Amino acid sequence: MKIKSELSKIIESALINADINAEEIVISDATKPEFGDYQYNGVMKLAKQLKKNPREIATQVLAEIDTTGMISKVEVAGPGFINIWLNNEWLSEQTIAILDDTRVGVGQVEKAQKVVVDYSGPNMAKQMHVGHLRSSIIGDTLSTLLEFLGEEVIRQNHIGDWGTQFGMLIAYLEEQNTDGNTQELKDLEQFYKDAKVRFDESEDFANKAREYVVKIQGGDEHCLTLWQSFINASLGHCEDVYKKLNVNLTREDVRAESFYNDQLPQVIETLKEKGISRVSDGAECVFLEGSDVPIIIQKGDGGYLYATTDLAALNFRDKELNADRICYVVDARQAQHFKQVFSIAKQAGMVKDEVALEHIGFGTMMGQGGKPFKTREGGTPKLVDLLEEAVVRAKDAIKDRDVRSEEELDAVAKAIGIGAVKYADLSISRESNYIFNWDKMLSFEGNTSLYMQYAYARIQSILRKHNAEVTGSIIVADEVEHRLALMLLKFEDTLTKAAIEATPHTITSYLYDVVTVFMKFYELNPILRDDIDEATRNSRLQLATLTAAVIEKGLSILGIEVVEKI
Ligand code: ARG
Repeated sequence: MKIKSELSKIIESALINADINAEEIVISDATKPEFGDYQYNGVMKLAKQLKKNPREIATQVLAEIDTTGMISKVEVAGPGFINIWLNNEWLSEQTIAILDDTRVGVGQVEKAQKVVVDYSGPNMAKQMHVGHLRSSIIGDTLSTLLEFLGEEVIRQNHIGDWGTQFGMLIAYLEEQNTDGNTQELKDLEQFYKDAKVRFDESEDFANKAREYVVKIQGGDEHCLTLWQSFINASLGHCEDVYKKLNVNLTREDVRAESFYNDQLPQVIETLKEKGISRVSDGAECVFLEGSDVPIIIQKGDGGYLYATTDLAALNFRDKELNADRICYVVDARQAQHFKQVFSIAKQAGMVKDEVALEHIGFGTMMGQGGKPFKTREGGTPKLVDLLEEAVVRAKDAIKDRDVRSEEELDAVAKAIGIGAVKYADLSISRESNYIFNWDKMLSFEGNTSLYMQYAYARIQSILRKHNAEVTGSIIVADEVEHRLALMLLKFEDTLTKAAIEATPHTITSYLYDVVTVFMKFYELNPILRDDIDEATRNSRLQLATLTAAVIEKGLSILGIEVVEKI
């Protein structure tokens, strides 16, 4: 149910009837309950254009608003706002209509866009660490959300499998005189550290490492074999993490940096041809307008850079994948990089003008006290360890709650623990830095996944207790039911906003509001108590069922599971 666009249609015809021309009609949520459910704030602008008193115009429009269906009441407020209340009967009809709908009333876009979502993108020379958590979680949610709304999503895992680190690793492999079998690559992190020590202490080694980068780029077979075994081992580690995290990335979604190697010379050619790049200090550089800091696209030794690969990827996503929109879910600290490559790609015609290029930036994950997140020993925590700890802590939080089998407890702990980590990440506005706090994320109170999962389980328990068929209509009878029904119908507007702005926290805030209103409703309007008549009980049971459906669908878009019992 797209409430806002329904309302704008009503306002549009009221404006037409009042002989007023308006371009775009924007409906906003009312900021306070006494201002109704929604507001139309466009009158002031119209009044200015018509050089008339806004309140007068508002009154004129008000008289033309149809209050026989969806809307029950309208009022002029302040300098010329129009406050809108929705009709309880309409809410009743709409809620009952979506009760059996598996999409909980959420429609699909008329014309699907092709959306490339570039996310996760770990570096193969290192084990995945907490820094990759946010990209994987936010990117996956965005992909699931867009897909649910009917868009055609192409996931791209732009893994870092190319570049100077690999020259270093392979040079070190050779120096160690090992054959690079996967057994020796088990502890990649340590291997990387050892190689880095050599790199820093020996100029000769460092030069060799650089030379090897060029050698792999030249297709040297021996080097390539070693390199491939690295990638397989490292990608295997990542896939374990994806599985634990409920993140939908497979090998098919991997389009590594190395994939673009053959296309890099062409990128340079195009930029040269179009006069966008030139040689400066021996390197091929682009100077963007308004900045005299060059963007290097090819080094003097022939090596290419992160930006060059991203230009090739942009070209590929436009020409081969035919994307309408390309979303890069990458650390906010890369904002400058994306601004630059987007600008170059458009200038060079590598991406059509109408293609939307978006850097979906996110802040840094911090530990307590606002310092970068570290283990007790001071290292960067590995993602696998963190997720295992989440499940252990979740188990601890719920172990006394109910008698159940160990197996059941493990399954619930997994849903809660992983859910907590994901939800905590998704629920803050993504651009902000984020403070990792176990106690907060595993709390039954507040804007946490556990609060939502608990509400869901509670509703299931009510339904189990009732243990009979629920029929009849939903009767929206009072203020709290009005608010609950309206919240439940706002699901599609919420998801649409989250998809346009690429803001998962729009969904979590919404779920938090839904559950908070539900708790209030449940407190004021008992469901199973003996003195409740059957029609009322059935109506309330159905509102509860719909609430559970919204929670379940909302969490599933966030990649979080519900549980029947907590
Ligand atoms: N590998 C990069 C990193 O760890 C992220 C890749 C993001 N995607 C891209 N197309 N640049 O920082």
